Amino acid sequence: IEIKNFTEDLISWQRAQGRHHLPWQVNRTAYRVWLSEIMLQQTQVSTVVDRYQSFLKRFPNIQVLAGSSVDDVLAEWSGMGYYTRARNLHKCAQVVVNEYDGNFPNDPLLLERLPGIGKSTAAAIAVFSYGVRAAILDGNVKRVLARIWGVGDDLSKSAAVKSLWAHAEQLLPNKSADLVSYTQGLMDFGATHCTQYQPVCMRLDKKECLFKNRCQANLSNKVNQIPLKVKK
Ligand code: ADE
Repeated sequence: IEIKNFTEDLISWQRAQGRHHLPWQVNRTAYRVWLSEIMLQQTQVSTVVDRYQSFLKRFPNIQVLAGSSVDDVLAEWSGMGYYTRARNLHKCAQVVVNEYDGNFPNDPLLLERLPGIGKSTAAAIAVFSYGVRAAILDGNVKRVLARIWGVGDDLSKSAAVKSLWAHAEQLLPNKSADLVSYTQGLMDFGATHCTQYQPVCMRLDKKECLFKNRCQANLSNKVNQIPLKVKK
């Protein structure tokens, strides 16, 4: 199915209604972007906003982070949970310092080989720090794409996820100037409009979602059933 103008409409939406003042959206160095993406993997935006600056104050650059003890990193991470992230963060800093002279690579395939960085996080870092054309597919984005394209298959199956990756890659804007808005737009739209519970289309009179007439899940009244997750 072709969803008309999805990419350009999402870009316009982001520019008008998306988030533009998150602390990691200013002064986008790879170090700052990487740190934010790791924190945001399993911690909500409001908590990360509260903790991000303090972490940067304690570890202002990748050399300081790599040279600190893992216990100091864990202490600064306290309260955010999922401590494997903090251990990988420390390991990753050491690899980047030792193997890349302190500079994160811009190739998503190289980023993905670093500790704690999966395919979607690698793409987000490449887009936001280097403007490299790469597709993200985190939990929010899976939900948005599955609903709009009506992918009702069990997303714990790799075939279904593979089809979402194919959509994600096809939808990337061609102009590099649009990449950041597009990628941030997908994240923001999933986090604020196409939410898991009570998405905009299920609130009130279905007026607000800009994709309501194109979204396969909405058109077939299956928003609550997509994305489908079957517990194994
Ligand atoms: N979730 C993951 N990455 C994000 C980002 N850069 N901005 C907002 N939410 C996010």
